[in-house]
Amino acid sequence: MAKDLCPVWVGYLLASPLRKLIQNPDTMLDPYIKQGMQVLDLGCAMGFFSLAMARMVGQGGRVYCVDLQEKMVQVLKKRAQKKQLIDRMDIRQCSPESLNIEDLQGRIDFALASAVVHEVPDPASFFHHVSQAVKIQGKLLLVEPKGHVTTTEFDETISLARDHGFKLLETPKISMSRTALLEKI
Ligand SMILES: C[S@@+](CC[C@H](N)C(=O)[O-])C[C@H]1O[C@@H](n2cnc3c(N)ncnc32)[C@H](O)[C@@H]1O
Repeated sequence: MAKDLCPVWVGYLLASPLRKLIQNPDTMLDPYIKQGMQVLDLGCAMGFFSLAMARMVGQGGRVYCVDLQEKMVQVLKKRAQKKQLIDRMDIRQCSPESLNIEDLQGRIDFALASAVVHEVPDPASFFHHVSQAVKIQGKLLLVEPKGHVTTTEFDETISLARDHGFKLLETPKISMSRTALLEKI
């Protein structure tokens, strides 16, 4: 079923540094990302989290960023170049059918899906591809906006992630969000 996609103008708002007052990527992601890691930003948009993730993994790490919308990917590439982080980033456009991460099989230490699952037309396929990419004991942090996603809907999302080989570890506190930190088993 087709779902509403985040418009490009909202992409610019989401990338605003002012958002750090509510969601600070460094504090949010510091417990999970270490230097040298291979990490994945699913539905990266213009890279509010991706650029912080690129700083956190350092020169020896890599951030894979995927988004459905060409414009999001284009803008993120420019921002990554400007911040001189492009060398440690792999920024890709995907399709509604495939996340375009088949080559990452079992390589990802940490994946973030922030405010994306509720836009995905086929969440089962989404979790299938994510599960293939994340290594055993790798982590997946799901974050969904409370305003868009009900508790019941979020529980269904966690259940789907479980069906695809993840176990729930905890629900970190993130402002205005429903969250789940999962581990690949
Ligand atoms: C609300 S934005 C969130 C962006 C970013 N994760 C953040 O938290 O700032 C959702 C993004 O997910 C992307 N998206 C939606 N469905 C997708 C899919 N099936 N695969 C990859 N990206 C998708 C949209 O294009 C949009 O850029």
